[in-house]
Amino acid sequence: MKILIHPDAARAAGAVADRIADLLAARPGAVLGLATGGTMEPVYAALIDRAGQGRFPAARFTSFNLDEYVGLGPDHPQSYHVYMRRHLFGPLGLPPGQAHLPRGDAPDLEAEAARYEAAIAAAGGIDLQLLGIGANGHIGFNEPSSSLVSRTRVKTLARKTVEDNRRFFGPGEPVPRHALTMGIGTVMDAAEVVLLATGAAKAQAVAAMVEGPLSASCPASILQMHAKATLVCDRAAAAALRMTEYYETVHPEGGAPQL
Ligand code: F6R
Repeated sequence: MKILIHPDAARAAGAVADRIADLLAARPGAVLGLATGGTMEPVYAALIDRAGQGRFPAARFTSFNLDEYVGLGPDHPQSYHVYMRRHLFGPLGLPPGQAHLPRGDAPDLEAEAARYEAAIAAAGGIDLQLLGIGANGHIGFNEPSSSLVSRTRVKTLARKTVEDNRRFFGPGEPVPRHALTMGIGTVMDAAEVVLLATGAAKAQAVAAMVEGPLSASCPASILQMHAKATLVCDRAAAAALRMTEYYETVHPEGGAPQL
């Protein structure tokens, strides 16, 4: 795993946007796997900025999001459909047919999961999958104990995840307890994976992912088995790593390797 520790969260998010911009400059029709959540907001803002600078053609890529809350339709204000339209697809002018998210309001969620897997395969698979990480080590909404070879399906959210997500909902508004999420096997099929972690609340999960045992207790630890996985983080999220000196020697300030 490539481990890039940046001095602060803004630079870490900018580095992720740069990686995506470089890929889209080289291959404008690439297939992206996208994530939501607070960590991704500065990444999408930076990516819109890079598109405005003409670094890549803004509206040629195809995307598949990791997950959607069960029970929320695509126009629900807290749905990930709305999040993506607001933070990325709208500003970039991405044609709706190129942006895919699972439907959390589908009448048959199992059929919707199978349809989503088939759509990813029909697009030729994911070239770059962007990931955040939960404080409990989840990726997508694959909570601890998820099968490490799972495919898209419904998962029950851990209590900690529901509590962490509460900040996006209004006071007294119910927070969904289930999500339709790509599986860990689905994520691992991507040609490249970039996980962004920022802030002290992610430090234990990052340490378990990078230096802990490969275990379903920390779903993100499966990335130890991916041939092209990069962790991009800030110093706060890197604080519990034991081998920081080594990572910073190889990539000072998250930059190019010192050979
Ligand atoms: C969201 C997703 C989740 C988040 C994770 C971190 O699509 O897949 O795994 O990336 O819960 O969320 P934030 O960034 O809000 O801390």
